[in-house]
Amino acid sequence: MNFPDGFVFGAAASSYQIEGVWNEDGKGESIWDRFAHTPGKIKNGDTGDVACDFYHRYAEDIALMKELGLHAYRFSINWPRVLPDGLGRVNEKGLDFYKRVVDELLAAGIKPCVNLYHWELPQALQDQGGWMNRDCAAWLADFAALMVESLGDRVTDWMTLNEPMMVAALGHVMGWHAPGYRKPLQFFKVVHHLMLGHGLAARSIKAGEPDAKVGIALDLRPIYPLTGSKKDRRAVVKADALMRRTFLDPIFHGEYPPQFTDQLWPARVKIEPGDMQTIAVPLDYVGINTYTRDRVRFNRWAIGMGFSGVGPEAPDGEFEQDGVQYTSMGWEVYPPVLYEVLMLLKNEYGNPACYVTENGAAFTDTVVDGRVHDEKRTAYLQAHLAGVRQAIDEGSNCRGYFVWTLLDNFEWAEGYSKRFGIVYVNHRTQERIVKDSGRWYQSLIAAQG
Ligand code: FCB
Repeated sequence: MNFPDGFVFGAAASSYQIEGVWNEDGKGESIWDRFAHTPGKIKNGDTGDVACDFYHRYAEDIALMKELGLHAYRFSINWPRVLPDGLGRVNEKGLDFYKRVVDELLAAGIKPCVNLYHWELPQALQDQGGWMNRDCAAWLADFAALMVESLGDRVTDWMTLNEPMMVAALGHVMGWHAPGYRKPLQFFKVVHHLMLGHGLAARSIKAGEPDAKVGIALDLRPIYPLTGSKKDRRAVVKADALMRRTFLDPIFHGEYPPQFTDQLWPARVKIEPGDMQTIAVPLDYVGINTYTRDRVRFNRWAIGMGFSGVGPEAPDGEFEQDGVQYTSMGWEVYPPVLYEVLMLLKNEYGNPACYVTENGAAFTDTVVDGRVHDEKRTAYLQAHLAGVRQAIDEGSNCRGYFVWTLLDNFEWAEGYSKRFGIVYVNHRTQERIVKDSGRWYQSLIAAQG
């Protein structure tokens, strides 16, 4: 499988999922520290307190990235590690850590791609309402300014947010992620404040470094109806509007879809003059995080939404049903997914430069004689990259692919029970073993000429 010259192959990760060291070296508490420390929130009582200990092991892990031939590494900044209270007082030790990581990556010839917000909101800001408070948008912009001032001489590629949809839906409607609320109407407020924060942060990055490349990572999935009924098909239109157009339309067309704006009054969200222009700040690229497709059905009880997602009627965990493979997250393996999302960006949004900023799969791995033969993951990566290749052949402006993820890590509410890495991590000893999928990825990159 050959990709165009300059196509970037990388891996993505986030700070809370790998770093550990949650309360040392001056770090403040994040909403994920608080959430994971709350009994009953995370499977098996797991926390990110130690995670993959990347904070101490970053040099070895970057050496591993080099061995695999990665061109780029996408990672996030743990906000309260550098700003323990969320704003104001700077923690130099935290900044130094990220400077060391960036220097190590550059020395290994790997491009650092910094994502500002992968959900690690300082608890001090949550205490003031977090994303339900409009001020949070400006706080993100201040945090962005600090990071650009500190790393902007060495980092050119930036992302403002990771998956704002998930922050709003899982964190504020379902309660499965920090801060753990079940407040459906807050969805609209949280989304608007995140998008405003995106626009302000993008401007603040450009103000600090005019040549910086700025993007956002959105989770985009094709949405299908559960059945052919009229109601389910109408639910698809609504779900597509709220889960996709709510994020892409304001960026590219300067407006939210009507399905979103219809809810602003009941949800008491104010769009102030100038907000939409702020959000529509021109971007250098869009990042897409895509794993599977969604199926939805009509649900009159889902307040403000009118639909609900459906999973297969089968236990959580890896299985096959009707000839279709499901990952250990219970997610359908649907290989055309990246092709479909990339073509949608091309056909509906003017074919912007874009990167697949996350794609990968969790499967049950076992170590046999020091090796991990994860054929299913390799097959998944191969099939999904083929979709990217096909989209490029048909004119998509996709410029790179970041596998999720390098190391088996803390998978949010699932704790350590789900393994997405191309490198196996023994969470007791911290030993790393490159899985067969990692070796496959290595040879794919090496074969690119
Ligand atoms: C995405 C998250 C990422 C990881 C993958 C599996 O939604 O951005 O942190 O957990 O899912």
